[in-house]
Amino acid sequence: MKRRDFIASAVASLAAPVIFTRPVHAAGVQGPRLTMPPLLDTRTSGRLDLRAMAGTTSFGRGRLSRTVGFNQSYLGPTILVDNDSTVATRVMNTLNEDITAHWHGAIVPGIHDGGGHLAIRPGDTWTPEITFDQPPATLWYHSHAHRRTAAQVYHGLAGLLHLSDGRDDQRGLPSAYGIDDLSLVLQDRRFGHQGQMVYQPSNNDLMNGFIGSRMIVNGQMGAVAAVPKGLVRLRMLNASNARTLNLAFTDNRPMHLFATDGGFLPAALDVTQIRLAPAERIEVLVDFSAGGTARLISDPATPLHVLDFATDASLPVRITALPGALDAEVPDLLGRETVTRDLTLDMGQLGGMAASFGINGRPYDHNRIDFHVKLGAVERWIIRSTVLPHPFHVHGVQFRVLSENGRPPQAHNTGWKDVLLVPNEAEIIARFTKVADESAPYMFHCHILEHEDGGMMGQFTVG
Ligand code: C2O
Ligand code: CU
Ligand code: CU
Repeated sequence: MKRRDFIASAVASLAAPVIFTRPVHAAGVQGPRLTMPPLLDTRTSGRLDLRAMAGTTSFGRGRLSRTVGFNQSYLGPTILVDNDSTVATRVMNTLNEDITAHWHGAIVPGIHDGGGHLAIRPGDTWTPEITFDQPPATLWYHSHAHRRTAAQVYHGLAGLLHLSDGRDDQRGLPSAYGIDDLSLVLQDRRFGHQGQMVYQPSNNDLMNGFIGSRMIVNGQMGAVAAVPKGLVRLRMLNASNARTLNLAFTDNRPMHLFATDGGFLPAALDVTQIRLAPAERIEVLVDFSAGGTARLISDPATPLHVLDFATDASLPVRITALPGALDAEVPDLLGRETVTRDLTLDMGQLGGMAASFGINGRPYDHNRIDFHVKLGAVERWIIRSTVLPHPFHVHGVQFRVLSENGRPPQAHNTGWKDVLLVPNEAEIIARFTKVADESAPYMFHCHILEHEDGGMMGQFTVG
């Protein structure tokens, strides 16, 4: 695939921001201190201003890479939104190709969802008034431009969105952004000889999804997260195009998993390893009270370095005990469904070369609505994967998992989800509460971005 010149165009005008932070030196770990994305708090202003822009970014010690971001050269701010509020949003596109701003995981009407039909043309500004009304959760946002999602997200058009009700202190959860409440955008990337980030997918990469060889966190390579000597909340987003992570600490310390895509779990879970497919989010508490350092890796079998942590005695320790039961609102929808659908995620190879993708035998067609859902209806969807496990995602809802490969859902999949890695077959159930018409339908697709752009996607209306 030829990289277009959208990145090249505006590079000259923007210098990369250089952030100097005190490097961290601790036994066994060394590196620049990990920084959080800037926090964009909309709660008092009621305003959200994003500007998609091109820039250059230095990853590690290498040459500058041409990148894109929202309000900065790579990735975007962490947007903090009251989970029951209306936000006057402005998204300006200063790039020279169409983008969208999709609020992944938000239960908002199709016209505010930022899906593939809501292109923001070069030079234009999109100004939706978006009403959020769903439980607190760690969501994210990214461009969803028709056939350009993979390249645009890879180069940086993504960020986190925290929906908050402001009551985490009462819950006993860490809430100091960047101190005991860390936001971690995890991405695998490929780098050229001179350290520049590379996206040149081969046919094989298009088939299997583009996998990088190194992890970056919040756009930084080899950084060290400084943490207080207490319980620390890690909000982790797998913003990789295709890689499923298998996260674990090398010392096997437990992660107290208390939230997934759509909010708090009905019952928290202690795990030493957790799988995180593309686009999934988890929130865990990790105990650093013993001090020292810790290393987070992916796949203990073939370890890939993700992030080092070093305790910093100068950081305030606020939380030292695990919270009690959290107020998860996760109603059981089983038995209320009026429609059952079968969706098979297809992939194959045509003529032994190019990959072909579709759902139920048909590749995505921007001008075809695949089905209509009645407003307020509960539907049960049976998803089947072919060839690979595919991370299945639906817009406009949070769903519950009814079964995975014929068995009850795994404990970490018992809360609200908007992405589910489907190894063979899974059943999900959801109530569709927001309208999406033909002008801005909702999408459902594989979140391996090369598969999505390749056609493993469909669209539906609600009304
Ligand atoms: Cu994360 Cu259709 O998107
Ligand atoms: Cu989405
Ligand atoms: Cu897929």
